[in-house]
Amino acid sequence: MSESENDWLNNLIRKSAEVRENAHCPYSKFRVGAALLSDDGTVYTGCNVENACYPVGVCAERTAICKAVSEGHKKFKAIAVITDREETVTPCGLCRQSLREFQIKSIYCAKATPVNGKYEYRLFTLEELLPHSFGPEYLL
Ligand code: THU
Repeated sequence: MSESENDWLNNLIRKSAEVRENAHCPYSKFRVGAALLSDDGTVYTGCNVENACYPVGVCAERTAICKAVSEGHKKFKAIAVITDREETVTPCGLCRQSLREFQIKSIYCAKATPVNGKYEYRLFTLEELLPHSFGPEYLL
């Protein structure tokens, strides 16, 4: 990976780490941040927002997607997701389906803490996370 490619990605992951600070997760205490890169370079961030009525809670990835779509963006290049765990955590099933809706094909799952300013991550494709998926083309 080239140096400039690494920079945009590290910046995207850093934004996911920043918004993780805003997570509202008094029940799980499991903070999640996401940063969604749209095709024009705009970044939409999101955190998990839990609720005393547990099922009402929303994941970080879907917060970011809803923010972007409600601002008029539907084309994306990538998403970065981060938790507080020093291991790879991948998006839940509901979020995978939301990523599928908008063909968000590159999913960077970062470890919690940067090493010398660089976040470690694993890249997953949508196809890896949600093979044989259901999508809008069946309905449109
Ligand atoms: N969570 C996310 O934000 N994204 C995921 O993909 C997995 C789970 C949140 C939901 C809940 O607030 C907390 O993590 C524990 O499940």
